[in-house]
Amino acid sequence: MQSIAVIGAGTMGCGIAQVAATTGFSVKLVDVAPGVLEKSGQRISESLQRLAKKGVLETSAVDAIQKRISASTDFGLARDADIVIEAVFEDESVKRQTWQNLDAICGDKAIFATNTSSISITQLASATKRPERFIGMHFFNPVPVMKLVEVIRGNRTSDATCASVTELATKMGKTPIEVNDYPGFVSNRVLMPLINEAIFAVYEGVAKPEAIDEVFKLGMAHPMGPLTLADFIGLDVCLNILEVLQKGFGDPKYRPCPLLRQMVAAGKLGRKSGQGFYKY
Ligand code: 3HC
Repeated sequence: MQSIAVIGAGTMGCGIAQVAATTGFSVKLVDVAPGVLEKSGQRISESLQRLAKKGVLETSAVDAIQKRISASTDFGLARDADIVIEAVFEDESVKRQTWQNLDAICGDKAIFATNTSSISITQLASATKRPERFIGMHFFNPVPVMKLVEVIRGNRTSDATCASVTELATKMGKTPIEVNDYPGFVSNRVLMPLINEAIFAVYEGVAKPEAIDEVFKLGMAHPMGPLTLADFIGLDVCLNILEVLQKGFGDPKYRPCPLLRQMVAAGKLGRKSGQGFYKY
């Protein structure tokens, strides 16, 4: 694989594009919103500068990395890519429509990988005519820092696709871990009930957010407590994933806390909106 198309230039898409370009791949970054695409250049540049300042990257390499990324609002840019990694808005109908469009544009041999955080890979693959070459590649935020890629096999994903994507993740400097396609995979199936329970603890007055987070930082050596992490991920994203878990398993243990629903309805989405469990 030499050429990687990344669809969606939000936080995750930019991070994936940056890491792919840093590890030598030619990257095509596509987003249908011109404003989002404009911001992506600055976002990637700031992250690269930060890594250069820390000495993780040579300052002289920054320019060359950025030049390996070309950007467009036209899906046609992905036409010749060996693999397409999709990181668009976490909504099943938006993702299905995106994959249908790409299926008509991209070469038959191209692998399709979705960065969904919880939507069924098997279901998304059914929007294309290539379910054997369709797979989940779940990166973690901040992508330049977090080592994991959860590789999720759909029901019809071939061994060859899984092997190619595992090799790609390794070349991108990540550690791939293979899991099967059930709601939330492993990461969010375990993480979201933890975050939800921490929110229940606030809701029931067990402790303040600061106290709950300190318990996890000092007692379990988590880099961020669960409520800081929820703000970092986005409370709307957490709610969305919990709803996927609740619907997918039909089990009330995944029911989102009413406080989480209320905060999302009030526009308190965490860091990105300036307020969540904390003010930013
Ligand atoms: N680009 C480049 N470098 C970055 C960066 C970015 N966007 N963000 C952080 N860094 C680097 C910093 O330069 C710093 O480098 P250093 O260790 O060499 O000094 C290092 O990361 C630590 O950053 P900071 O000193 O600014 O801050 P912290 O020490 O508080 O670390 C953190 C920040 C890395 C985000 C850390 O708090 C952490 O690991 N938090 C947990 C993150 C996590 O759990 N992510 C997964 C979320 S779940 C997910 O993504 C899945 C989805 O489906 C929901």
